[in-house]
Amino acid sequence: MKLISDPGKFIAITEKAGKLKKNIGFVPTMGALHAGHFSLIKQARKENDIVVVSIFVNPAQFGQGEDFKKYPRSFKQDTGFCRKLGVDFVFLPDKDNMYPQGYSTFVSVEPLSGLLCGHSRPGHFRGVATVVAKLLNIVLPDTLYLGQKDAQQAIIISRMVKDLNFPVKVKVMPTVRQEDGLALSSRNAYLSKDQRSVALVLYKALRLAQCMVNNGQRNAARIISRMKQLIEKNKLARIDYIAIVEQEQLKEVKKIIPGTLIALAVKIGRTRLIDNIIIEHI
Ligand code: PAJ
Repeated sequence: MKLISDPGKFIAITEKAGKLKKNIGFVPTMGALHAGHFSLIKQARKENDIVVVSIFVNPAQFGQGEDFKKYPRSFKQDTGFCRKLGVDFVFLPDKDNMYPQGYSTFVSVEPLSGLLCGHSRPGHFRGVATVVAKLLNIVLPDTLYLGQKDAQQAIIISRMVKDLNFPVKVKVMPTVRQEDGLALSSRNAYLSKDQRSVALVLYKALRLAQCMVNNGQRNAARIISRMKQLIEKNKLARIDYIAIVEQEQLKEVKKIIPGTLIALAVKIGRTRLIDNIIIEHI
């Protein structure tokens, strides 16, 4: 496994792989790797000749007052995990070679970026789309692996790939959860023991929604209202949003149909957590 931090060197490697007709699978991350990331890496390993993981805590996607500085960084441990999982290249750029002085180009996917998480994190998805566009141009992968955990991010990146004709296939892998249902997230590390048990309310609210659908409820407003009630029972939890939307434009729907996305963001103390489910069958 090779560690590379210079984008120029990386491009040379990926061009060579292209000439040798080797498939490249790519998993972009911000590190603090956990089983959610591992599932993407394992899938990439199964399906490609070469697996690339990037680890870059991207300053462009953090707003003022957000957790850029305290975001967990465990590069040594992360590269150890990558080695065990059979990754070929870890791309570890730094801020200065990704955004050198004079850097001026940004990708914004409208209006998707302003919806759901975009309300409370203005500029976040512009930062995500920009860094992923740059990484795709550096890594030149055949397949890009993303997690369903960040549903809006996956939808925005898929839109960008389509709109800007990036020659890459996007695969979205299911959300990996802890045994009790909490979606794995690098930000779970911020939670105290008490907060950790409150955090389960996101999953409980999603399960309640799924249960209501299973019992025949199709009315989105009624489902949202019950989810809200459940979450608001917890004094430590503050709802940012609960949304029931279709997956193309993220437009609110009144009636649940197969493919409807139910997504929510909840603040537990100062930690903002997100989760979602897709209603598969009705
Ligand atoms: P990060 O939060 O490190 O996540 C990297 C990838 O892992 C994303 O595609 C995310 O959806 C996926 N992932 C995270 N938790 C998961 C879980 N519990 N189950 C399945 N997949 C999970 O998302 C980012 O980094 C950044 O925004 C990035 C795309 C790298 C751009 O900077």
